[in-house]
Amino acid sequence: MEHFDAIPLTFRFGTEIVGLDLTEALNEEEKSQVITLFNSASVLLFRNQALTPGQLSAFTETFGKQDIHHLAEGTFPDHPEVRVLSNKKKADGTLIGAYKGGHHWHSDLCFKEIPGQATLLYGAECPPEGADTLFADMHSAYENLPQDLKEKLEGRMATNDRNWRYSDLYPWRPALTEEQIAKVPPVQHPAVITHPQSGRRALYVTEMMVPHIDGMEDDEAQALVAEVETFATQKKYIYRHKWQTGDLVVWDNRSVLHKATSFDDTKYDRLMYRTQVLGEKPVFKPDAG
Ligand code: SIN
Repeated sequence: MEHFDAIPLTFRFGTEIVGLDLTEALNEEEKSQVITLFNSASVLLFRNQALTPGQLSAFTETFGKQDIHHLAEGTFPDHPEVRVLSNKKKADGTLIGAYKGGHHWHSDLCFKEIPGQATLLYGAECPPEGADTLFADMHSAYENLPQDLKEKLEGRMATNDRNWRYSDLYPWRPALTEEQIAKVPPVQHPAVITHPQSGRRALYVTEMMVPHIDGMEDDEAQALVAEVETFATQKKYIYRHKWQTGDLVVWDNRSVLHKATSFDDTKYDRLMYRTQVLGEKPVFKPDAG
């Protein structure tokens, strides 16, 4: 790259971009190079950034139109599109943002008709240990999946349901109200999707979101999804991001699953800013990939 260096994070996926200061607007050529890398590498890392919520929001536009998260808690008054994830508390003892979310393998907003495309997570204050974010490469996992499992999934529609195991995922949160449940009804997406830019296929099912696959009994479908997720999240498909304050990580939800891990919140604080860009309805192209 002419304007910056691109250094692989793992053998299979992920790239660190070195030499861009994201407090300044990128020119069109830089934007296009960043997007090209995003579509091929699936995870981008920019270290040593010093971003305000507004600067993160401006950079997010590089990847498309921003979404205001449906749980828009802990946002900034001037930037409702920038969400805070943190264990920090206000003077009244309530959390300043969302905490303890995403500790299961997932693709952002897979339970919506139009799911997430890019998610950007910026480390404004990162603990010195713990709170790593894991990313699993769903293209390589699909490509290496045993043929009999591929055949069971390809061309099938899977139901993605945020409400199904919500209380297993978040036992400390109040149960969803009828109104909240009705607002996010189950949706169907292909179990294997084709990336719209790269044309590569990716696995698009997760144990915590998929109760049903068309043409299968539910217990058969759930056992299949569990087997596929175990295969797809083997160490060889994972990039483990160890955060430093000033890191910005951008990931492609059409290509990777991700998962948060815990840290010692009696010793450390964590403050993250998060933005997201919606994509398009996922499709499976039988003739591509
Ligand atoms: C997420 O799932 O988006 C959050 C990841 C993290 O906090 O490490």
